[in-house]
Amino acid sequence: MYSRIAGTGSYLPAAVVSNADLEQRMETTDEWIRERTGIQRRHRAAPGETTVDMAEHAARAALLAAGRDARDVDLIIVATCTPDLVFPNPGVMLQKRLGCVGGPAFSVEAACSGFIYAMSLADKFIRAGESKCALVVGSETLSRITNHDDRGTAILFGDGAGAVLLEAHAEQGIISTHLRADGNYQDLLYCSGGISRGHAPGGDHIVMAGSEVFKMAVTMLGRIVDETLAANGLPKSAVDWLVPHQANIRIIQATAKKLDMPMERVIVTVQEHGNTSTASVPLALDAGVRDGRIKRGELLLLEAFGGGFTWGSALVRY
Ligand code: COA
Repeated sequence: MYSRIAGTGSYLPAAVVSNADLEQRMETTDEWIRERTGIQRRHRAAPGETTVDMAEHAARAALLAAGRDARDVDLIIVATCTPDLVFPNPGVMLQKRLGCVGGPAFSVEAACSGFIYAMSLADKFIRAGESKCALVVGSETLSRITNHDDRGTAILFGDGAGAVLLEAHAEQGIISTHLRADGNYQDLLYCSGGISRGHAPGGDHIVMAGSEVFKMAVTMLGRIVDETLAANGLPKSAVDWLVPHQANIRIIQATAKKLDMPMERVIVTVQEHGNTSTASVPLALDAGVRDGRIKRGELLLLEAFGGGFTWGSALVRY
């Protein structure tokens, strides 16, 4: 038994913050942001709009795309670093909203790699026969942990959600997943406060050593895409679409180069919403599916890198 993608969905909040808006607030330029990151705009959750609100929109869209009823769902995993509450976890909140209580529902925190981690877990549940229909969601309200006066980070992050419905299937869908972490790099990318340590004065914010993170992301993502193909005995040319974490166009270009892939075969959405952490990979996947570029039977390589550091990949026959 394998797990297969039955449907995808996504959601971006209505409010948009453009590079021109940021020029008004801090010492930066549209040109600098576009050249160094590829980002043109990012979406921001409305006051009171939460991670679970956005997760629900994306989840309903994925269910609709799959032609499945929410009552079919027997497992929910929500990847996020910005949960509504410490507990209950956003998975059970989503379960209640969708009306599919009973099966396991939980959240995964692995920063920007969270969706790949969650997808890998759901795949294992399905392969083990413990789930037949799993909802995997990445959803973030990063605007609530962004220092909007810090030009090194405020330009990068945005809000949004993406979801994938996985179903048990006799044919191979998810071929392999590869998860990695190295806790030695915690100081390069982290949130400055929390429950156990206490909240940071002035609020908990993303802190990042940008160029160090950049170099590690390029190195580790280059390595993991090689490992993923080697583990499956596949040449680079076998991959139809790279669906990368949307953090920075230059990181995406470096990974594509490592795979000898032209940018026409890479799903790029970073210009539209910036870095949405766990939502980023499913947002890109949904964009590629909905505009008809990604077709059934094609081979997809998903990858992500985030704080921790954590990183990972998934090779998927769509
Ligand atoms: N506008 C204008 N100038 C800016 C700026 C901004 N928004 N942000 C930083 N700068 C300045 C710096 O202060 C620095 O100036 P200095 O040389 O006078 O000190 C200069 O630009 C270069 O800064 P640096 O941080 O070396 O730039 P960079 O090319 O590395 O780009 C990032 C910065 C953040 C865009 C880039 O490092 C990056 O994308 N890193 C990875 C981020 C990421 O993906 N994180 C999440 C991983 S999940």
